[in-house]
Amino acid sequence: MLSLESVTYAPGGHRNGKIEILKDINLKLEFGKMYALTGPNGGGKSTLARVIMGIYPPTSGRILLEGEDITGLAANERARLGFGYAFQAPPTFKGLKVIDLLEIASRRNPQEGCQPLRQIGLCPEEYLQRELDGRLSGGEAKRVEIATIMAQDPRIRIFDEPEAGIDLWSFDRLVKLIADSHRPEKITMIISHQEKIMRLVNEIILIAGGEICLQGERDQVWPQIKETMLCDCLEKCPLKGEEDVECPR
Ligand SMILES: Nc1ncnc2c1ncn2[C@@H]1O[C@H](COP(=O)(O)OP(=O)(O)OP(=O)(O)O)[C@@H](O)[C@H]1O
Ligand SMILES: [Mg+2]
Repeated sequence: MLSLESVTYAPGGHRNGKIEILKDINLKLEFGKMYALTGPNGGGKSTLARVIMGIYPPTSGRILLEGEDITGLAANERARLGFGYAFQAPPTFKGLKVIDLLEIASRRNPQEGCQPLRQIGLCPEEYLQRELDGRLSGGEAKRVEIATIMAQDPRIRIFDEPEAGIDLWSFDRLVKLIADSHRPEKITMIISHQEKIMRLVNEIILIAGGEICLQGERDQVWPQIKETMLCDCLEKCPLKGEEDVECPR
């Protein structure tokens, strides 16, 4: 199990300042389960992913992997323990090619990287020699990022909005790839707003304003979230009052 105990994150470490992005996060993630992390823009989803991955050190609280405190481990040390993160906006690497990234991810076996490239709909012959320097389109870069995670095959993996920039025709392929590659010895978390992703997972976690508002079995939580989101949207809608829609609450 991966547990977060009273984790907070404030950039610059201002625990009591006004800019606490994550507030008292308590979370238990079990191996074998798939989780969806959802919530409004700016709610703290990507920040939580970065804290789990060791990219951001928590300001307070603890992170435990199978009972062992890993709070102080850096991102590269966590990667060695089997943590993998597909970024919401994949970084560019000047001078590095797709094949180089796949080699690093698959621990020097580029052939293992070709398979995920194909599975995500990129032809290796066409893409292996492409540079990761920003000339790849948004959707291509996102696919390379997901293929890299597939090649790395981590046991704790977070996909941050994997559907972003992926065309509608490839979305089903992406969903199938993530589902098929999940294993009983893995924790898979998908940050998403897509109903198709929600249908895939065991549990859903809703985070807003840096706090976990809801967590539980998909069939219980998803109807509640849909209602909450609709109400919040209606509350903030500039057309409020002109629309012939009422909050179901
Ligand atoms: N290093 C930082 N310094 C200051 N504010 C930050 C920093 N990183 C994130 N934030 C802020 O923290 C909040 C949460 O950001 P985060 O990227 O985690 O949101 P998100 O839930 O992933 O949103 P989205 O759905 O748009 O991807 C946002 O208001 C963001 O502007
Ligand atoms: Mg995000």
